[in-house]
Amino acid sequence: MDNKVINEYLDQWLRDAHAMEEQAETMLTSQAGRIENYPELKAKVEQHIRETQSQGQRIRTCLERRGSSTSGAKDMAAKFTAMMQGLSGTVMADEVLKGAMASYTFEHFEISAYRELAAAAELAGDAETKQVVDAILREEQAMADWLYEHLPQVTRQFLERSATEGSSAKR
Ligand SMILES: [Fe+2]
Repeated sequence: MDNKVINEYLDQWLRDAHAMEEQAETMLTSQAGRIENYPELKAKVEQHIRETQSQGQRIRTCLERRGSSTSGAKDMAAKFTAMMQGLSGTVMADEVLKGAMASYTFEHFEISAYRELAAAAELAGDAETKQVVDAILREEQAMADWLYEHLPQVTRQFLERSATEGSSAKR
């Protein structure tokens, strides 16, 4: 087994993850900034923005410790974000729900990335990186779980507000 190849992939995927967290921060910040009438959702998204910033820093620390850098490799997350823009629904009447849907989807994109990173870090024998990506994975899973639990509630609030107040339900 060529350990050099494994470590090169691990570095590449850590750079991808760093770019992914930058995209996540951009997406979540624009989402949180537009939410007006869903305080619980807004607070949760804002909390995950802070978590996301910390995740980016922890990944950068892993790369530095490994003697690698965060430069380049924005492609994967950028392409994914372009795809998500169709879902983000900023011109849609049900914008808040499309945003929540996009977040739930993005969390699962992140979860799959960190599952792969955890396996790669383990194979490379990098216990510190393994620990970092496992911890981040739990945070992404917690955010996905929260969204899963709260999507029905946000949907009900949206529909009730649409029926009584009209367009203020949008965001
Ligand atoms: Fe994240």
